[in-house]
Amino acid sequence: MPAVHDARAKLFDFVVRSNEQVADGVFRMTFESGVALELAAGEFMDFAVPGNPAQVLRVPISFSHAEAASKTVQIEYAVVGDGTRRLSKMAPGDASTLVGPCGHGWCLPAKSGRALLVSGGIGIPPIVAASEMLSAAGIAFDAILGAQTADKVVACDVDAVRAAGSGDADCRVVVATDDGSLGYHGFTTGAMEELLSERSYGSAYTCGPTPMMAGVSRLAAGAGIACQASLERMMGCGFGACSCCNVAMADGSTRLCCMDGPVFDAEEVAW
Ligand SMILES: Cc1cc2nc3c(=O)[nH]c(=O)nc-3n(C[C@H](O)[C@H](O)[C@H](O)COP(=O)(O)OP(=O)(O)OC[C@H]3O[C@@H](n4cnc5c(N)ncnc54)[C@H](O)[C@@H]3O)c2cc1C
Ligand code: FES
Repeated sequence: MPAVHDARAKLFDFVVRSNEQVADGVFRMTFESGVALELAAGEFMDFAVPGNPAQVLRVPISFSHAEAASKTVQIEYAVVGDGTRRLSKMAPGDASTLVGPCGHGWCLPAKSGRALLVSGGIGIPPIVAASEMLSAAGIAFDAILGAQTADKVVACDVDAVRAAGSGDADCRVVVATDDGSLGYHGFTTGAMEELLSERSYGSAYTCGPTPMMAGVSRLAAGAGIACQASLERMMGCGFGACSCCNVAMADGSTRLCCMDGPVFDAEEVAW
């Protein structure tokens, strides 16, 4: 995947339509914004969140679903600090601004064959968007959606991935939990090994904790499958100006997560 500094990001207003808790520590927000007309799967937005004038940095968040006709976008986010806590307090009708679409999203697979999607934790929203992208392109997929425990599984996102795969009778959507409280008992990489032993895949897509993506990348490479990974870095500007979001690459170079990513060819990343 080449470095692509083709920034399309602009400033948009957004108005909250709904904002509710959907799993332990995880919220889903639906908002209306013109950015819905421009988003592609795997891209992200940088949100100005009201409530703390001392906090001038925006919060980068991916999306799971964007609908041009209604100009609505859905995001799911974990409350981890002050910015996401203030985001969770925004009520229907509240307004602010975002910068987007940011970054470089998922590509359609170069090789034919079933795709395998693997997400862990709050890595699920861009994987939902990937499932809808593949479905729209007529590409069959299986998905593994992991969480630590059942109460952290974002059920509405699992349903969205199932809906995207519903046109394919052979589509498998595996929910995995670390403690076995729901679905497959173990890490997503264990579930991936099982699927790889039963089926062949042409491509893989992953988003989640770095150790999980490193494992998915290793398994995909071992099976000869091209894998795309959506990375996270701490971000300052979100559009290439501050160089604080460096990603070390396997060839010794560095790239910017906010501009060259967040989606990278997994084999090019120095895990
Ligand atoms: C491209 C991109 C897409 C993202 N998409 C989503 C998403 O769809 N849903 C979601 O819940 N989160 C997403 N994140 C992570 C989200 O941006 C951070 O959780 C958020 O910025 C934390 O802000 P805060 O003010 O609440 O917490 P802070 O007080 O800033 O930090 C709280 C804790 O979170 C850690 N943290 C903060 N920012 C990041 C980051 N960028 N990556 C890893 N750890 C971080 C800090 O080290 C600290 O431990 C994404 C991040 C990036 C870079
Ligand atoms: S966040 Fe500023 S360059 Fe990437």
